[in-house]
Amino acid sequence: MEVRGMIFPLVIFVIIGSVRGLNNGLARTPPMGWMSWERFRCITDCEHDKDNCISEKLYMDMADRLVSDGYAAVGYEYVNIDDCWMDMKRDENGRLQADPKRFPNGIKALADYIHKKGLKIGIYEDFGTHTCGGYPGSKFYMELDAATFASWGIDSLKLDGCYTDTADIPIGYPIMEQFLNLTGRPILYSCSWPAYLKTPNYEAIAKSCNIWRNYGDIQDSWDSVQSIINFYGKDSGNFSGVAGPGNFNDPDMLIIGNFGLSYDQQRVQMAMWAIMAAPLLMSNDLRNIRKESKDLLQNKGAISINQDPLGIQGKMIYSIGKIQVWNKPITPVGNFAFAILNFGDGGPGSQISVKGATLGLVDDHGYNVTDAFTGEFKAAVKPNSYFNLTVVPSGVFLGKAYLLK
Ligand SMILES: *[C@@H]1O[C@H](CO)[C@@H](O)[C@H](O)[C@H]1NC(C)=O
Ligand SMILES: *[C@@H]1O[C@H](CO)[C@@H](O)[C@H](O)[C@H]1NC(C)=O
Repeated sequence: MEVRGMIFPLVIFVIIGSVRGLNNGLARTPPMGWMSWERFRCITDCEHDKDNCISEKLYMDMADRLVSDGYAAVGYEYVNIDDCWMDMKRDENGRLQADPKRFPNGIKALADYIHKKGLKIGIYEDFGTHTCGGYPGSKFYMELDAATFASWGIDSLKLDGCYTDTADIPIGYPIMEQFLNLTGRPILYSCSWPAYLKTPNYEAIAKSCNIWRNYGDIQDSWDSVQSIINFYGKDSGNFSGVAGPGNFNDPDMLIIGNFGLSYDQQRVQMAMWAIMAAPLLMSNDLRNIRKESKDLLQNKGAISINQDPLGIQGKMIYSIGKIQVWNKPITPVGNFAFAILNFGDGGPGSQISVKGATLGLVDDHGYNVTDAFTGEFKAAVKPNSYFNLTVVPSGVFLGKAYLLK
């Protein structure tokens, strides 16, 4: 079964392998939604922790909140199940099944509930023999699992890479893409492929995946957020270059609204995930979140940068000491979003005076710069004029620069 499954889809893969990146019509801008992992992990004891355990109730609650609390209206759309949803055994026909205690109505009923709210549902599996949490993996069952997910009405699949031989990864992930395609149901494909390899081939990844995780799991801490931003700043292997409509690097979930970040640090995550054209997948408890965090997550200026139709991933274009400058081209062509980031850890803030050209603002017509979070006008900036501001420690200025013509 494994052998036949491996050969057939590879042929198809080679035939369509000439396109720039996977185009299944999905993720034309970075996907937005909610995902359980960072906040709710693998809590399975519903008897003692019914509000936090991985169960149909958790996902229904979050779907309710996405709609009732304004998240859906600004673009958050996917409700993504992560690990630990399954029963430890496949059924007698080899099909995956949800844990019957925690998902008494099954995934299909949950999908129907989420669809009725106008939202989409994502699910989690693993390319290896087991999921990272020890549940049944897709190895030997990829075709059946793709068909099962489609029959349930699944809209997105995150395929993790635990319990696998890394040599199989570049061959196996494209095969799952073919099986998803053959179901006829558009299913956004999120690959953990590069996260498990030292020197991933990003062009190959973009040909098979809509989004892909290329760094370790985010944790609820400022250290974790900083290390991810620094990894994206280095851009080793130029992975930013393969991002575009349909295909995005995924620096992992938004942890805004949890415990580990100060308000300014939460602003940094929102600003930088916007600049990096990252999927905006919140992992927090929408039933219990401070207004300031909710407002950040729903900030239309930041979201419009993230969702810009050009789909260009912003890059770090300058750094000195603990200050980084990032730039992202946005529509209309000629305009930019930029971020000035302060990773310093003391004092009242850095007074920064930076030339327009250093921000990537090189057109002699000049630009009107606004604060993207507030829309407030800040300054008119030319390539050789200076933009002056103060950025607090672990803070950011997120700007939009409108070309004057
Ligand atoms: C399957 O792949 C073809 C060719 O890339 C694409 O046009 C089509 O939209 C895909 N269908 C699904 C359901 O993903
Ligand atoms: C990445 O881009 C840099 C600068 O454009 C170039 O020098 C380098 O060779 C590229 N590396 C890869 C792996 O493509």
